[in-house]
Amino acid sequence: MKPVQIAEGIYDVGVNDWNIQDFHGYSTPLGSSYNAFLIVDEKIALIDTVKKGFEDKLLANIAQIVDPKKIDYMISNHAEMDHSGGLVEIMREIGEDTPLYCSKMGKKNLSMHFPRGWNYHAVKNGEELTLGRRTLAFLETRMLHWPDSMFTYVKEDKILFSSDAFGQHYAGNEKFDDVIGDAIMPHAKKYFTNILMHFSPQVAKLLKTVADMGLEIRMICPDHGIIWRSDPGKIIEAYASWSRQEGINKAILVYDSMWHSTEKMADAISSGLDDVGVEVRPMSLRKWHRSDVMTEVMDAKAIVAGSPTLNNGIFPTVADMLTYMKGLRPKNKIAAAFGSYGWSGEAVKQINQYFEAMKLEIVDEGLRVQYVPDADALETCFQFGRKIGERIISM
Ligand code: FEO
Repeated sequence: MKPVQIAEGIYDVGVNDWNIQDFHGYSTPLGSSYNAFLIVDEKIALIDTVKKGFEDKLLANIAQIVDPKKIDYMISNHAEMDHSGGLVEIMREIGEDTPLYCSKMGKKNLSMHFPRGWNYHAVKNGEELTLGRRTLAFLETRMLHWPDSMFTYVKEDKILFSSDAFGQHYAGNEKFDDVIGDAIMPHAKKYFTNILMHFSPQVAKLLKTVADMGLEIRMICPDHGIIWRSDPGKIIEAYASWSRQEGINKAILVYDSMWHSTEKMADAISSGLDDVGVEVRPMSLRKWHRSDVMTEVMDAKAIVAGSPTLNNGIFPTVADMLTYMKGLRPKNKIAAAFGSYGWSGEAVKQINQYFEAMKLEIVDEGLRVQYVPDADALETCFQFGRKIGERIISM
């Protein structure tokens, strides 16, 4: 990826990671990008770096614009290593004593990742740095995505460098929202769900703070994916909606099966949900990645999870899914469990324990079928689906 000029004297010098397929447990079939931004003014600032291993490409991109040694300020909006992993190499190149601007928590976290004695400048919320014609303002954004996260705002250009927020795991030749169009929105939704959904209250609070400040935003430059230059309001509105986790009349039916019995139950429950007019997404964990299931969970009103009992417990793929789901804290949803068993049948009870831990409303104690569901059992599953569907419609 060559440097892209995004405004006069401001460049995206980041890199595409075309081949990453798994981003700490999140499937990224279209790769990702580690965006970094160079602002050339009377003083020169670099905002964020790249993942370790991509430093040479970052330096080569910078060198097409300025000699990296001329960089006056290193600004780290976030300490996670997809943005800071390149710091060791970059600081060596630009000068170990270059002032390194970050949040107070950023200084702490970067120091633990890289015990180097760098020339830190821990900024206060709202602190400013003048580069010449331009002024950078720093805005603390704790937990979006880590406690150290902050935004950097260029006051004169009204450009927000938003770190992880508003990003997408997407490596492409398109660099702007007006080039790729609405095709980027499913990637933005998946990113929000899997990276930020559990911090929805913080997202809502930040959006309110930004609105109260009257901060005019002409362009949003996240650290992953495309830049929102033509309609930044679109992704801000989407975040406002997603952070409310308002569901539609839709149920996610996520399950695995050993000998197709739980699968047959899933099919019948799905038919029951469909029968009352609820949109249903059956998702077998043999086919679907946990991060794709979560993307569908975000705007569903019901989570219906099914597992056979294996060795007195939940099938491993379902336990993996529920563990991941619990961490992302879905809200405003009802839940129900089902599954086949041979002789002990603990899986349904254990799924309910996950739902209780997630503080979801369990609408039925759960449905168990021994060995293989017969016609009566399948009718019971159908009615179970109808019951969940009717409850969804009443929400
Ligand atoms: Fe893209 Fe939280 O790092």
